[in-house]
Amino acid sequence: MATSEAGGERPWEYRGAWALAPMVRINTLPFRLLCAEHGADLLYSEELVDKSVAACRRSVSARGEAEYRHADGKLIFSTVPHERVAFQLGTASGPDALAAANVVVDDVCAVDVNMGCPVRFSTQGGMGSSLLTQPERVRDILTTLVRSLGGRRAVTCKIRLLEAPPPPPPPPLTRANRPVTPAAARQTTAATLDLTRMIASCGVDALAVHCRRVPDRPRHWAQWDALTRIRQTLPPSLPLLLNGDVFSLDDARRALDETGADGLMLARGALWNASLFGREERAARARAAARACVGGVLSRDRLVSPPPRRPAPPPPAPARLPRCAGGSARQPSNPRPEAPPATRPAASRPPSEPHRPPRPSGTSPSQSPSPTTSETQSTTLPAQPHRTAPPPPPPPPLTAADRRPPTTDRRPPSGP
Ligand SMILES: Cc1cc2nc3c(=O)[nH]c(=O)nc-3n(C[C@H](O)[C@H](O)[C@H](O)COP(=O)(O)O)c2cc1C
Repeated sequence: MATSEAGGERPWEYRGAWALAPMVRINTLPFRLLCAEHGADLLYSEELVDKSVAACRRSVSARGEAEYRHADGKLIFSTVPHERVAFQLGTASGPDALAAANVVVDDVCAVDVNMGCPVRFSTQGGMGSSLLTQPERVRDILTTLVRSLGGRRAVTCKIRLLEAPPPPPPPPLTRANRPVTPAAARQTTAATLDLTRMIASCGVDALAVHCRRVPDRPRHWAQWDALTRIRQTLPPSLPLLLNGDVFSLDDARRALDETGADGLMLARGALWNASLFGREERAARARAAARACVGGVLSRDRLVSPPPRRPAPPPPAPARLPRCAGGSARQPSNPRPEAPPATRPAASRPPSEPHRPPRPSGTSPSQSPSPTTSETQSTTLPAQPHRTAPPPPPPPPLTAADRRPPTTDRRPPSGP
């Protein structure tokens, strides 16, 4: 938590933050909570278009989740109390953006405007990366949001670079040898710097920079050095998040050290390995936040651990074993699995051991292999059914032919 100028607490902090980047169709509530579990400080929603959001109605599910649905019941967005979620809007106008933001404002800690999406659907509607070349529209959207939400919620935006020259061809497989040279830094055009200065003047709380140009594809290296230039030209009070090609903790360290970024925003790196956020102290901090956030509804234990085991039910009374013609006992055709030995691997058991006589009650389970009641038990729990099983029914009277030494019979000791 950070303290606002007004003295109250506000639920966002961009400086030093590692944020989950917005990803359409990926950043649903479960994935966001997974990343929070692993240490993500801030969780962006997927981009949602303003008019679609404005048509939503809010309800609260039986599990306490705030849900936003269309009239036909389609779920558009959901969150849980105290989640640090930044709601990303696709928008082309201030009034539309504000109408959508007002619908969700009570459930989110930030409203972000997507100014980087290059897909045709967005750009044709005047949204996404088409905004990068429409500074007046950007100013309209951001100042409208800041005027209405500022101080209560963070208002941010995410941009791409505006620059002409293509990035240099990357070295194969690794980025470790990629230097930040003054020449590379100069490639950031004046247009990008003008845009970011204008955005800063709108009073936004943070700016995320996807360090690629609009026509760049994911296979092109992100140009971290562009962020260095942007950082140098913006007021230090405006936090900058670097986005692009952070796939390891080493990448993260280098990105922060080399560029002066205030925080990171991870997309594919988090998608492939959510524990990328998980430096130990970060994870501990986030777990505390996640526990508060889910309030026992989706607790950490239910997210990442199996439910507690129920005690094993008592086994059914042992069935009478069929007998061979010669009268000796025979294993059933589909015997139940045996419990693993408690102290020694099976390979080291003497061959005679599986055929031990039944363990008299009161002896240690490690002294005798016991049948288990389920496969789960056979792999995870010491076998215990004999401790709780009711005494077996008395066997039928035996004939003389049945009188065999008990060493090969798995029935409980009985009979004459
Ligand atoms: C599956 C997917 C969906 C994405 N959806 C969005 C989105 O909704 N809004 C947005 O601003 N960027 C979106 N992006 C772009 C990412 O936020 C990010 O800018 C980009 O992937 C570069 O970061 P990375 O190198 O860490 O992957 C998406 C990326 C991916 C891979």
